[in-house]
Amino acid sequence: MKFSILALGSAISVHAAVLGKKATYAVVGKPEGFGTGTTGGGSAACAIPASVSELKTWLTDSVARCIVLDKEYNFKGTEGTTTATGCRPASNKCPGAGGQDAINMASWCTNGNAGAGVTSISVTYDTAGVSGINVGSNKSIIGVGSKGVIRGKGLRMANGAKNVIIQNIHITELNPQYIWGGDAITVDGSDLIWIDHCKISLIGRQMFVAGTGASNRVTISNTEFDGQTSWSATCDNHHYWAIYLTGSSDLITMKNNYIHHTSGRSPKVGGNSLVHAVNNYWYANSGHAFDNGAGGKVVAEGNVFQNVVTPLLANSGSFFGSPSTSANAVCSTNLGHVCQLNAFGSSGALGGTDTAFLTNFNGKSVATASAASSNIASLAGVGKI
Ligand SMILES: *[C@@H]1O[C@H](CO)[C@@H](O)[C@H](O)[C@H]1NC(C)=O
Repeated sequence: MKFSILALGSAISVHAAVLGKKATYAVVGKPEGFGTGTTGGGSAACAIPASVSELKTWLTDSVARCIVLDKEYNFKGTEGTTTATGCRPASNKCPGAGGQDAINMASWCTNGNAGAGVTSISVTYDTAGVSGINVGSNKSIIGVGSKGVIRGKGLRMANGAKNVIIQNIHITELNPQYIWGGDAITVDGSDLIWIDHCKISLIGRQMFVAGTGASNRVTISNTEFDGQTSWSATCDNHHYWAIYLTGSSDLITMKNNYIHHTSGRSPKVGGNSLVHAVNNYWYANSGHAFDNGAGGKVVAEGNVFQNVVTPLLANSGSFFGSPSTSANAVCSTNLGHVCQLNAFGSSGALGGTDTAFLTNFNGKSVATASAASSNIASLAGVGKI
C-alpha cells in the first residue's frame, strides 16, 4: 500500500515535468471596453527572464513576447543613486513626520509649482526609479500567483508602442519619499494597452499617467491602487498622485479597480480624454477622487465611493455622474445600456449631469456595467486570478 502511494506520487511529478511550465502560463481573459482587441504577445511562447537585465532586454526589444515574472525583479541600485538639489515644497507641512519632499524634475521646484515658501534641500534617490522601462510593442507581461513584483522601476508604453498587456504584476517602491520619484505605469503615444489585476504601491509620483501624447485605446481593470504611504504630499499617509489622464486623444476604460487611501488625482482628467469609470471602488480617500479639467469627458457609473471626502473636486470638462434612474436612461443610445447608479457611504456628492458628450461613446467598444458593489476590494489586485 505504502509502495503504491509513492508510485502514484512520482507519476504525478513526472507528468508535470513533461507538460513543462510553458503550458501553465497565459494571459487570463480578455480586455473589456476601449482596450478591446489588445492581444499583447499573442501566441508567443511564455518565458521567465533570469535577471533584471534580461527582463529589461525582453521588454524593450521588438520581438513579440510573453514575459512571465515568478519572482521579484529588483531594479533598486541597478543605476546607482543620485544626490542633487531638490526642495521642500509648500505642501510639505510635516517635514520629517510623513511629508513628501521633491526632486527638481522639469524645474518643478523653481517654476512656482512647489508653492510659496519652498526651500532648497539636498535629495538622494534611487536613479532607476525616475525613468520607466520603454516597453516595445506586442508584449504580455504576466505574474505567477502573487509573486510577480517589479521593485524600483516603472513601465512606460510610449512613442508608438502598441498592443501591451500587463497582468497580475505588482509595481512598487519608486522613491516614494519624493515627488517626481517615479511613475509606475506611463502611456504616452501608444495604442491598445491593457492593465489588469495589477497592484501599484509606494510610488513617488503617478501610479498611472497618460502623458500628453495620444494614447488611444486603454483599459485598466481589476487593479489595486494602494495609496498607503509614510510620505504623503497631504501629510496624512495617503498618496496624492494617483491617476493622471490628460492625453491628447485617449479613450480610457477604468473597470473594477480598487483605489484606496489616496488623497487626490484619483483621477485627474483633462486634455482630450474620454473616460468610462465603471464599477470601481474608491475607499478611504482623504481628498478628492475626480478632478475633471477642460477637455475631460467622463462617465462614472456603478462605482462605490466609501469614505471619499470629495468624489468630484471640479468639473470644467464634461461629466456624467449617473445621478438617477430616470436620468441614466440617456446612456442607452451611445453606451448600449442604462447607466448604473453610483453608491455612496460617508462620502461627498459626485454630481455631474452633462450628457451632450455621450455621443463620443457611439461606435466604440464600451464596457458593460453592473450594480455598484464593494466586493471589488477583494477581487482587484495581484494573486486573484
Ligand atoms: C506587432 O504585431 C503586429 C501584428 O502581428 C505587427 O504588424 C507589428 O509589426 C508588430 N510590431 C512590432 C514592433 O514588432
